[in-house]
Amino acid sequence: MVNSSYRVLNELETIQYVRKIPGLFSENAQLVCKEIGDGNLNLVFRIIEQGSSGKSIIIKQALPYARVVGESWPLTLDRARIESEALMIQNILCPGLVPKVYHYDRELALTIMEDLSTHIIMRKGLITRKRYPQFAKHIGIFLARTLLLSSDLAQDSQIKKLKVIQFINPEMCKITENLVFTDPYYDAKTNQFNPFIKDLIKEIWGHDELILEITKLKEKFLTQAQALIHGDLHTGSIMLTEKDTKVIDPEFSFYGPMGFDIGAILANLLLNYCSHEGHTLDRDDRLQYQDYLLDTVEEIWTVFEEEFKTLWQEKAMECYASKQGYIDDYLLRLLQDTCGYAGCKMMRRVIGLAHVPDLESIEDHKLRAKCERLALAIGQQLVLKRETARKISDLTSLVRTIKRQEVEED
Ligand SMILES: Nc1ncnc2c1ncn2[C@@H]1O[C@H](COP(=O)(O)OP(=O)(O)OP(=O)(O)O)[C@@H](O)[C@H]1O
Ligand SMILES: [Mg+2]
Repeated sequence: MVNSSYRVLNELETIQYVRKIPGLFSENAQLVCKEIGDGNLNLVFRIIEQGSSGKSIIIKQALPYARVVGESWPLTLDRARIESEALMIQNILCPGLVPKVYHYDRELALTIMEDLSTHIIMRKGLITRKRYPQFAKHIGIFLARTLLLSSDLAQDSQIKKLKVIQFINPEMCKITENLVFTDPYYDAKTNQFNPFIKDLIKEIWGHDELILEITKLKEKFLTQAQALIHGDLHTGSIMLTEKDTKVIDPEFSFYGPMGFDIGAILANLLLNYCSHEGHTLDRDDRLQYQDYLLDTVEEIWTVFEEEFKTLWQEKAMECYASKQGYIDDYLLRLLQDTCGYAGCKMMRRVIGLAHVPDLESIEDHKLRAKCERLALAIGQQLVLKRETARKISDLTSLVRTIKRQEVEED
């Protein structure tokens, strides 16, 4: 339902709007506004003050429909509330790792936030083989802090249940249910894939054991209110420099399984890993960058685990903290969930509706098919073998083994 005072802003109206918000710009400031959104769902405006101050802000406004499709795909405006409230909580749990929120307007479904134009979308950097030495540390800490501190492990269960209500996000969850866990596993109309891999996709549709495991992961996604997860933590939701990392766009946030967020980030690194079979034809450059990506995967988990254990020591509720072996069991289950969700996230980006530019930008469809086959092979094995994982190097070894089998190195 769109409330009566909601309206879609244009660039001029956005300037008029921010002038009325105290504390942002001085009265006589000369402001220039441009809509810069490149995403699927929302409008994103940047306003820059002319002159020496160079001050700038971002205004993100939700539309009552999905931007890429139009009015035929209506979508809740409540996602703007979820996004701004999640950003505010994440800012408290891990200051500096998300953009600051300056203002939220429920009626207009918009959030005014810190401008990160000095940062780039991580996916773009990875496609051109950039390295980000601080990223693994930052994202490992982001994951440990946002996940553990929002869970039952570190707060009273009654307070946590109220937060589950605050972040109930059924329409956005439904999109994930369909696009990640349902549609890619049958001949759904929404699927879009490279015709050169149709044989493999048909095999997947007929792979009963795989589909059973996907169904278990789907049910866990629907029912396990474990922590306040970001819900869409791919490399397009991360803006960074060599020194700084910011996580943006938590409009899919809700109380779900922790492994879904960790798996999403690892899956997107692995999709990029596969894409370099097409992008980076120089063998040494390719192998070095792929090693860097797998090292990053391992470091993310290592930092995550370390920070998780430290927080556990400091914050875990007595009923969990006092139980011998509980933390190790918890982390093992998380590692296995992470493998499973990483696998789902890889496969859906090859078979389903929304693809990743890492693979899409390979223009030669036959060459792209080689990368996509590798991604599907890794994705399937991550799902099927997730319960055999004991440590993060089990995941990276699996990736290395599959690559040796799938891609003949000359
Ligand atoms: N705080 C920010 N500072 C600078 N640029 C930003 C900021 N937030 C978003 N952007 C830019 O706007 C683009 C779209 O933002 P975002 O991903 O939040 O929108 P969306 O409509 O929710 O997209 P999606 O389809 O990924 O859900 C980003 O890729 C980035 O280029
Ligand atoms: Mg978004």
